Amino acid sequence: MFVKSTNIFEVEHKVTREQRWARNGHKAAVVWFTGLSASGKSTLAIRLEQRLFDLGHQVYVLDGDNMRRKLCADLGFSAHDREENIRRIGEVAALFAESGQIVISAFISPYRADRALARRAVGDNFHEIYLSADVEICARRDPKGLYAKARKGEIDNLTGVSAPYEVPKTPDLTIDTGTLSVDESLDILVDYVMRNMALSGD
Ligand code: ADX
Repeated sequence: MFVKSTNIFEVEHKVTREQRWARNGHKAAVVWFTGLSASGKSTLAIRLEQRLFDLGHQVYVLDGDNMRRKLCADLGFSAHDREENIRRIGEVAALFAESGQIVISAFISPYRADRALARRAVGDNFHEIYLSADVEICARRDPKGLYAKARKGEIDNLTGVSAPYEVPKTPDLTIDTGTLSVDESLDILVDYVMRNMALSGD
């Protein structure tokens, strides 16, 4: 990225992240879902948000389709535009996490390098969760009709069909959303969050 901002002086926060965590009763983190369209990202993100909210956690979902309506409405689906999409979301997720939230992000985020950049923006508390439903299963589900459109040549650059998906090499967690039910996947996620976002001594 070409940096145009000069003469910038960073303001230091006096409230520490540990103080925010102590008030919330849990650590902040970014739970970063990655996987094909129809692998279950949005469904699981919204269900996980509800479960954690009901447990009294500070939690917020960032979802690809929602972000592309406003913040990223100027971006398409070329590799370059996806890189910029994930760069922006990585920075937004980092800010939300700084503020004490558990952020659940639901983006295809098909490129390893882009996910690595998001991890760098967030730092320690970044958890890459791979939803591993394969393309045949996703194409059979096809809730948005995207795979059918790709078959008819009506859209290009569809991830897994006419654009690449780079499988994570060392995800923090893999969930086989091709075979597990939503409830089974959710139980795994809630357990993961409870173990990893607990304050020491809880
Ligand atoms: S990402 O690749 O840049 O991470 P993102 O998650 O923001 O993608 O957006 C994916 C959403 O855009 C899908 O859920 C789908 O509704 C929509 N979409 C439209 N065209 C495409 C396409 N060619 N490939 C993938 N998703 C698409």
